[in-house]
Parts: sequence; C-alpha cells; structure tokens
Amino acid sequence: MAEVVIVTSKDDAGALVADEIGGLVVRRPDAVLGLATGSTPLPVYDALRPGLRGVDVSRVRGFALDEYVGLDPAHPESYRSVIAREVVEPLGLDPARIRTPDGDLAGIATAGERYEREITAAGGVDLQLLGIGTDGHIGFNEPGSSFASLTRVKTLTAQTRADNARFFDSVDDVPRHCITQGLGTILRARHLVLIAFGEAKADAVAGAVEGPVSAMLPGSAIQLHPHTTVVLDEAAASRLRLADYYRYTWEHKPDWQGL
Ligand code: F6R
Repeated sequence: MAEVVIVTSKDDAGALVADEIGGLVVRRPDAVLGLATGSTPLPVYDALRPGLRGVDVSRVRGFALDEYVGLDPAHPESYRSVIAREVVEPLGLDPARIRTPDGDLAGIATAGERYEREITAAGGVDLQLLGIGTDGHIGFNEPGSSFASLTRVKTLTAQTRADNARFFDSVDDVPRHCITQGLGTILRARHLVLIAFGEAKADAVAGAVEGPVSAMLPGSAIQLHPHTTVVLDEAAASRLRLADYYRYTWEHKPDWQGL
C-alpha cells in the first residue's frame, strides 16, 4: 500500500517532499525528476528555493507530466512556461535538461512516442510528483484511461476545464485537448509522490488510496506501484477510513526508513 503522511500545513508537505528530492539529488546528481504543474506542487518548489538549497543541480533532468495541445508554448499558462517560471528558473535547473511534451499541432501525431523515447533514453523517472484532479485524474489521465496507457493526446473533461479556468481569462480559453504521460508511463517511475490539499480533493484521494482499483478513478493506479508516498493535509485526508492507522504508522516509523 501507499505510505500516507498527513501533515498540518502545505508548508510542512512542501518541506517533507523537498527533503526527499534534495536527498535524491545528493545521492544521484543526474536524478530524473517527474514534474507536476497546477497549484499542488508549489509548496514543494517553494521549499526547494533558493537553487535546490545549495545542492549542485547542474545535471538534474526533468520531465513534465503534461501539456495543453495547440496552446502557444509562449502563453504564460502553457505548462512549458509554468515549468520554466516556477521550477527551472527559481531552482537554477539547466533548461536544456527539462522537457515538456510537445503540444504543437504540427507534430502531435508522433509527440507521445517521441516523449516516451526521451524518458526511456534518460533512464526513466526517479521521483514523480503528482497532484490529483477532483475527478481523480493524475497527469491528465481522465476517468476511463487505461492503466497501460503511454504519453498520448487526451480530451479534458468539462470538470477539469472548469477547475483550470482559474488560470485563464475564462473557461472557454482552456484548451480542450492535452498531451499527457499515460498511467503506464507514470507507473514506470521509481517513486511516486502524490500530494493533495483541501476538502475538494478528499473524495478523489479516498478513491485513489483506498477505493477499488479502477480506470474510472485513474489515481487508483498508485495502488499498483510498489513505492508510493501520499502527502495530504487534514482536509484532503478527511475521507480516508484508515487515517488513524496512517498517523500511527508515521509516528512509529523506524528512523532508518526513508520516504
Ligand atoms: C498537472 C497535472 C494535474 C494536476 C491536477 C491537480 O501537471 O498533471 O494532474 O496535478 O489537475 O491540479 P491542482 O494541483 O491545480 O489542483
């Protein structure tokens, strides 16, 4: 099962995950990070500033989970721009080593395959950060996505477009299509770290962590992975049946065990 850690604040979640990433990069200077966008990972990126807290990041590589299709890469809300602004620049990463899927319509038919080849050539992702959508998506794998899926184009649900409208002038400006790592791609990463905050995520989190494994709740794919850490605030954890057990387990975690 996933290790579930319930924290008291977003800052605590950020500090916990940032420590794990810092340790990984010290052990493995050319670590491959799986980068998520959206609001959830921001406390992690904040906690990693300045630079990656003095750790040499010159060889760190990174792959974003997803990108909008047909949105100008220079648009401030393209995930390429978001990753550059929120991760690459503040952490001092080498932009040439950080990739996002190519959402350009011209090459979209082969973009998924090209991205998969790049991830494989990098040796795979060491630590994959994940948020979760209110409809249970991870990456942009909307309900119904195959557990075997690789990077490909998906159609965003109305719920996801409404949720992401806050980043655009209106919901009509949110692209309808995205290109996302598949659930199969995500499951190949060596360590999954799923983070969620707030009551609005509580049902999706409960389904992902404790519900039946089902394509209808793509986040439940984490149950198929041998090394998943789920970091939640109290509100996001509020519908977990085993919340007390997770707290007890964390409190009594042996010192020698990492995340
Ligand atoms: C972002 C991503 C999505 C988000 C999810 C939650 O790269 O893949 O799965 O993690 O939509 O978004 P926030 O964090 O904005 O609530």
